Amino acid sequence: MKIVKTISEIRDIVKDWRKAGYSIGLVPTMGYLHAGHGSLIEQSVKNNDKTVVSVFVNPTQFGPNEDLEKYPRDIDRDSQLVESLGGDIIFNPEASEMYNTKNYTYITVQGLSEKLCGITRPTHFAGVCQVVSKLFHIVMPDNAYFGLKDFQQYVIIKTMVEDLNFPVKINPVNIVREESGIAMSSRNVYLTDDEKKSALSLSDTLKKASQLINNGEKNSKELIKQMQEFISSHPYTKIDYIKIVDINTLEDIAEIPDNNYAVLLAVYVGKTRLIDNFVQHS
Ligand code: PAF
Repeated sequence: MKIVKTISEIRDIVKDWRKAGYSIGLVPTMGYLHAGHGSLIEQSVKNNDKTVVSVFVNPTQFGPNEDLEKYPRDIDRDSQLVESLGGDIIFNPEASEMYNTKNYTYITVQGLSEKLCGITRPTHFAGVCQVVSKLFHIVMPDNAYFGLKDFQQYVIIKTMVEDLNFPVKINPVNIVREESGIAMSSRNVYLTDDEKKSALSLSDTLKKASQLINNGEKNSKELIKQMQEFISSHPYTKIDYIKIVDINTLEDIAEIPDNNYAVLLAVYVGKTRLIDNFVQHS
């Protein structure tokens, strides 16, 4: 598997691909790839002539007390997975390569970045938008793939791309779950066996919420109360938020409509902050 470390080399490769008329897919990741990433890579390989997987633990999206240093990394394993799924190149720059300028420029998607995860992680999405827009300028993909587990991130990136006329199509990919139901995440590796049992309460409460809605519960407040009670009954859990929101504006919804809403949650299990959701589209 070819691993490219510099911006100039990936630009040269992409230039040649463009000359040859190839379409290009980009799968931005922070590495320590799992089956969720695998599904993004598969979509890209299926729909593009060439697929670049970026593996970069982006320092600008971590807050001062977050897990930047201990974020799991394993480029050899990542490289084997990307190769087995038919990806063409891993772009794996050092932070000094990606941020070798003054680095004064951030992008804020106002109205979307400061709510939900943005409350506990106030600088997070500015860092995400910064690195994703840099990757788009470096790789110039036709398509980019983002997992729906990070639903707020997906909405923010889609909005940024629309607002700023980036010539790239943003493709959402469904959440992949472990057999138990837990949403795949590189951070699951932090969980002890006991914490993993409690982490199941996230997917379990979403399943129950979906059933309650299907059975006629329309009141967000009531539903959120039941979800809070259920999660809190599990040890090691501390709820950051549970919200029912409009899928485009991420504004709270009081009365649950038939479609176009998302049930989003962020919960600390021990020291690990996990997110999960389900989305009802029309
Ligand atoms: O979702 C992630 O893994 C990251 O936020 C992303 C999009 C790769 C940007 O660093």
